[in-house]
Amino acid sequence: MKISIISTSHQKESQSKRISLILKNFFKETNSKVKCFNIDVFDLNVPLWTSEKKNNLKFWNEDFKKISSNLSSSDGFVFVVPEYGGMATPNAKNFFLVFNNGELFHKPGLIVSISSGNGGAYPISELRSSSYKNSHILWIPENIIIRNVKQFFPGKHGELIPDWLDDRIKYSCNVLIKYAEYLKPIQRIINRKDFGNGM
Ligand SMILES: Cc1cc2nc3c(=O)[nH]c(=O)nc-3n(C[C@H](O)[C@H](O)[C@H](O)COP(=O)(O)O)c2cc1C
Repeated sequence: MKISIISTSHQKESQSKRISLILKNFFKETNSKVKCFNIDVFDLNVPLWTSEKKNNLKFWNEDFKKISSNLSSSDGFVFVVPEYGGMATPNAKNFFLVFNNGELFHKPGLIVSISSGNGGAYPISELRSSSYKNSHILWIPENIIIRNVKQFFPGKHGELIPDWLDDRIKYSCNVLIKYAEYLKPIQRIINRKDFGNGM
């Protein structure tokens, strides 16, 4: 079982990246058989999708293929998405345009939204209402919002982090793993080529 954890911040050493690494540990604690693959779109310099691929051959000919192959061999995904201007980040939305070759096709996804304050709801509603049409990702009916993210340190949380949050995250990780297990046959049954793009 392989889960890719995708950090979609636009900042170096972001909170999203820090949370992604913590989530990796949560998965390990939940199920020792799960292997996590962490992707930080800022560190990897994933460019905005463009038809002018010749302007960045290093990415489109090399990096893209490696990331795409890692995503294709993943059974489920976690998207760590900070709220910027009451929206999902451009990097989160762009990911669905760049990796649009069936990598996410009928595989489950968990949205983990983060905010340094009391926000975090908008990226969830935005990704749930778009993003799935051509990628065919299946957002599971759980999501996580980590508010006051700078106080989130499992084992020594700041006072604004509720006691129940760690258990809720572990529960959601476990739900994602179960969906990933049980959706595997679906990916074999459905022919992606029939209707590659949603209506
Ligand atoms: C451009 C920008 C816009 C932001 N807009 C919001 C917002 O609308 N709501 C919110 O709760 N936090 C907002 N924040 C604060 C972020 O929640 C906080 O900086 C968080 O750490 C960003 O995650 P990152 O470190 O992974 O980039 C914004 C931050 C940036 C840089």
